[in-house]
Amino acid sequence: MSERTTTMDKVVALCKRRGFIFQSSEIYGGIGGFWDYGPLGVELKRNIREAWWRHMVTGHDDTATLDGAPSPFSMVGLESTIIMDPKVWKASGHFDLFYDLFVDCKTCKARFRSDQLVDSQCPNKPSKKPGEHDECELTDPREFNLMFKTYVGALVDPNAEAYLRPETAQGMFTNFKNILSTSRVKVPFGVAQIGKSFRNEITPRNFTFRSREFEQMEMEFFCPPDSSHDWYTFWRDRRVAWYVSLGLKSGNLRLREHGENERAHYSCGTADIEYAFPFLPEGEFGELEGVSHRGDFDLRSHMEGKLIKEGNELVVEQDEHGQPKHPGSGKDLSYFDDAAGEKYVPHVIEPAAGADRATLAFLCEAYDEDAIPDEKGNPQERVVLRLHPRLAPVKVAIFPLVKKDGQPEIAAELYRDVKKRWNVFYDEKGSIGKRYRRQDESGTPFCITIDHQTLDDQTVTLRDRDSTEQTRIKLADVEQIVAERIDA
Ligand code: GAP
Repeated sequence: MSERTTTMDKVVALCKRRGFIFQSSEIYGGIGGFWDYGPLGVELKRNIREAWWRHMVTGHDDTATLDGAPSPFSMVGLESTIIMDPKVWKASGHFDLFYDLFVDCKTCKARFRSDQLVDSQCPNKPSKKPGEHDECELTDPREFNLMFKTYVGALVDPNAEAYLRPETAQGMFTNFKNILSTSRVKVPFGVAQIGKSFRNEITPRNFTFRSREFEQMEMEFFCPPDSSHDWYTFWRDRRVAWYVSLGLKSGNLRLREHGENERAHYSCGTADIEYAFPFLPEGEFGELEGVSHRGDFDLRSHMEGKLIKEGNELVVEQDEHGQPKHPGSGKDLSYFDDAAGEKYVPHVIEPAAGADRATLAFLCEAYDEDAIPDEKGNPQERVVLRLHPRLAPVKVAIFPLVKKDGQPEIAAELYRDVKKRWNVFYDEKGSIGKRYRRQDESGTPFCITIDHQTLDDQTVTLRDRDSTEQTRIKLADVEQIVAERIDA
């Protein structure tokens, strides 16, 4: 990211202008915390999801011992439902504990997250922080559960209450035994899932960064307790490397280990992968992904019931009758390890990423402004999205230089050929300079132009988005050369 040029306002404006991201229900004034991905945004996000899925699941080699890994491991995928049995959220602790504290102002009726008061604005003018106007009257902090509630079936009745999932993780825990018994995996193995999650955030903010409907890319890695710390460091470092491999500069990324007081009561280690989002002051970072060592908390919760910490032990929380407050399934979720000849409850390492936050980070990183010469050699300012070619929504744009002399026919034939493999864009309208610049703003890494010379010698120009360098290549080699550059 060029710190000189990238501001959040510019990224948001580009997203709107080029059709990456729109506010949901915009024609009705918009609904806070919900975002739609436009024609380019949907391709970018799909490519991010696809890169993650390949890295985690389909591209994983079950037979190899990867650098830093204690042993080979297996990876499989899952797609579980958004609405689950409400008992899941009771046993997991979300029903009791997944809340933020908020304060209301009795005068202006605004609501603020209590931990964000210093960063919030009172809606009254002149602009001040909540509580700073004489007439402000803030309530004491109160709890607000972030899970969206709904009803299953025709009756709006407490027995029909259900929740939209606030994370994808629980479906992977509840299916642990199903996956073990159907897919021939053995511990250690990971289950990956991509899907929508919902949180009724009190103050959604910073574009898509904190949304109410968003997408997660989570993986639950089940491993033997003895090697769990090695697996934790392996996954933590591997996840940072993934972002770097797709273009986030390491200077804008940070791995921050949580101190003991910041960690959840069950966590044996948590690190956030953080990015220097441009909405933050210089030197500050925002969470992109959390990597957590969750011990045996999740599988035990779904066996025994909601767990709380007593001393150093996790024990089942009891109600006033001495019964589990929120019972688990009662199913045995332990594992018999043939190789070790022992039975244990696997420990879990969880890299939990957000597809929307990753999309935002890649957009912010890619945004740049520079000046390039126009057809007459005069410098022209341009906005360019320097997205990694694998993430770019459109891989190749194909242009006939002019709309005559047989050029559109050759260009259209090439377009149809290349489209079989990638998302390709065809454009024959406007000056070639304008066509290039539109693609620069869209993040298209390569433009192919068919011109007079093509008719003579079957060559075309290949223009590189980042350097703007143009090379003459054979028409027949376009696909191979573009493929090499995408994977370079
Ligand atoms: N299962 C663990 C879990 O859900 P989390 O840190 O609450 O952990 C994981 O969420 C990731 O999901 C975050 O690092 C972030 O990328 C994304 N995420 C969480 N809340 C979000 C929100 N309100 N809007 C957009 N992304 C969010």
